[in-house]
Amino acid sequence: MPISTQSILVTGGAGFIGSHLVDRLILENPKKVVIVDNFFLGNERNLDDARRNRPDLDVLRLDASNLAAMQDVVARFEIDTVFDLAVVPLPTSLLYPHWTMQTNIGITSTFCEIARRGLFGRLVHMSSSEAYGSGRYVPMDEDHPHDAITPYAAAKSAEDHIIRSYVRTFGIDATVIRPFNNYGPRQNPGSYAGIIPIIVQRVLSGEPIEVHGDGDQTRDFTFVRDTVDLTVAIHDDPACRGAELNVATGVGTSVNELVARILSIMNAPNHPIIHTEERPGDVRRHLADVSRLVSLIGRQPAVLGEEALTETVEWYVRELS
Ligand SMILES: NC(=O)c1ccc[n+]([C@@H]2O[C@H](COP(=O)([O-])OP(=O)(O)OC[C@H]3O[C@@H](n4cnc5c(N)ncnc54)[C@H](O)[C@@H]3O)[C@@H](O)[C@H]2O)c1
Repeated sequence: MPISTQSILVTGGAGFIGSHLVDRLILENPKKVVIVDNFFLGNERNLDDARRNRPDLDVLRLDASNLAAMQDVVARFEIDTVFDLAVVPLPTSLLYPHWTMQTNIGITSTFCEIARRGLFGRLVHMSSSEAYGSGRYVPMDEDHPHDAITPYAAAKSAEDHIIRSYVRTFGIDATVIRPFNNYGPRQNPGSYAGIIPIIVQRVLSGEPIEVHGDGDQTRDFTFVRDTVDLTVAIHDDPACRGAELNVATGVGTSVNELVARILSIMNAPNHPIIHTEERPGDVRRHLADVSRLVSLIGRQPAVLGEEALTETVEWYVRELS
């Protein structure tokens, strides 16, 4: 079914990737768009464009791990497809591991269960490269062992296994998308900020940039609008049903290189940098093998580009000034 004929539910739709996905889905003119977000990290301002373009957008402040409430929402809005992006973030799992795991696993199993009961058709779930842990080999394909380091990563891995079990046992229609590190506007710049907002904030406040460890740890940085564009393409392609797919560029960038590029964009090449202890659970190498994505969809996200990085840095400069 094309998205234009569907009622869509996006969990975590007021968050970073979720709000970009909502904007991208709206371009397809769906019959209905509903967001469930409890605003743990979500932000109303992330929805400004969506509200402007779809005044009938429904934003429900609910806990996506509440099975009864979610079943009610799915039935009431006659939802066809759920894009499941709600998550309690990694840093919270270092402080409140049990609650983080319980919530995150609860959200995924809730939607698996509602799909099993036949109340909606298709589940597109966002996993994370964190489920793989530090690369035993690179690039990491979808068969890379799940070597989760943090409780967050363990929960993400468990969610993938739960989905797989519901696909195999009950035949639900589900796809698991596994993004790597995303960057772009709207990543929460406050508590639990991502690496780019933290660097920008340090430069603006004149404080030294803190790099954990030697800074040679690499990540596969993917622009958020590429991730959501491919998420829609994966949804649309029947060949992706039941699949697990890395969504990333296949090119690694070290934290040191990222810092240097941001400093250059900000015209602050000599800004002081200090190296501190490695963070607990920080993975060393993350680089995606995207051959499955390319063979199914025929394309992959662009490599960390100057234009996308500049747009991102400038967005945080405006946000944090
Ligand atoms: N950001 C990245 O680099 C990245 C990388 C790989 C995978 N992912 C995955 O992408 C998805 C979205 O991540 P994000 O970076 O946009 O995170 P985010 O924190 O910006 O968004 C998550 C949203 O979920 C909401 N939320 C949390 N608990 C909830 C609950 N119980 N009920 C309803 N809403 C709840 C938050 O308020 C927030 O708006 C997650 O599944 C994450 O694991 C993100």
